[in-house]
Amino acid sequence: MSAPLTSLSWGGDHLLMLDQRLLPEEIVHLKLFTPEEVWEGIHSMKVRGAPAIGIAAAYGVVLAGLQYKGSLPAEWFENVRKACAYLATSRPTAVNLFWALDRMKLVAGQLAETLMSIENLNEKLLAEANDIRAEDEEVCRQIGVHALPLIQEGMGILTHCNAGGLATARYGTALAPMYLAQEQGISFKVFADETRPVLQGARLTAFELQQAGIDVTLLADNMAAMVMSKGWIQAVIVGTDRVAANGDVANKIGTYGVAVLAKAHGIPFYVASPLSTIDLNTPTGADIPIEERPAEEITESFGKRTAPPGVQVFNPAFDVTPNEYVTAIITEKGVVRAPYEESLKTLFEKQNK
Ligand code: MRU
Repeated sequence: MSAPLTSLSWGGDHLLMLDQRLLPEEIVHLKLFTPEEVWEGIHSMKVRGAPAIGIAAAYGVVLAGLQYKGSLPAEWFENVRKACAYLATSRPTAVNLFWALDRMKLVAGQLAETLMSIENLNEKLLAEANDIRAEDEEVCRQIGVHALPLIQEGMGILTHCNAGGLATARYGTALAPMYLAQEQGISFKVFADETRPVLQGARLTAFELQQAGIDVTLLADNMAAMVMSKGWIQAVIVGTDRVAANGDVANKIGTYGVAVLAKAHGIPFYVASPLSTIDLNTPTGADIPIEERPAEEITESFGKRTAPPGVQVFNPAFDVTPNEYVTAIITEKGVVRAPYEESLKTLFEKQNK
């Protein structure tokens, strides 16, 4: 068993970003010194997974602050504010990106009104990014604690995409209960969908579970129905990029199909979600912006072209699972069930008390 890889860490004056595009073959930590480099890292999916995107963006804001060492607080804040707006254009679907940037902008604005030196302002901004990262680790562990009772001895769990340690500060969301179950000596099997076209399931989930010594079997996406029909799956657990106020769930393309299959086989479909991924300002799944990615992700595989030149391609990176397919949403504050409009609202009301 090897120590888990860290997707993001602060290097003193730069962000260290694990290049997830190169996994599992190569482990390369990139040194990023500018917000532009962080934008590119998020956009090209060197870092991916909703919480990790938010953390990366927060450090991108820190790098923007560091560029303005000798300026006045107002000028410093203007640069930080611009960097927040710019980083928000790196990817559209995962709400954690906007959540983290709003948090950084709010703190920067409050700081800029004080009489602190720029050096102190930058220290405080870094402290906020470090807090976002540290809180995410604790939040993921708490999701694991709340989801742990769902994992019974000998069961099979199917997951889609990568909602593991690589997608977060540590533990992951969907994978957190698996790590906790392993700590408790519970034995279970994980089936990881390969997750076309970017293969987060094959390259990342199968890799990180295998590294952790968890029993994982890789499936091509079109095998989930067959495996369910064999009775090998007792639960599906996935992560999410955004939960709408009515409980509709955006997650990696293919998740909706898995949810429909789970319902058809009478298998519970759980969504592991930090509060930072629940967006009460987005009324329904239809209001969630869905990223479309380059055609080459579909027309090229095995290192060569695998589709005729000029063919039309539709490549949405996410889909929306309607709330009626969601058995429960597991958050760091507990498990919520339908009707989600009410249960999610109550969750935030309790949180804000
Ligand atoms: O395109 P990606 O790899 O960023 O998509 C990631 C997912 O869909 C994850 O399931 C989601 O962000 C949850 S990560 C804890």
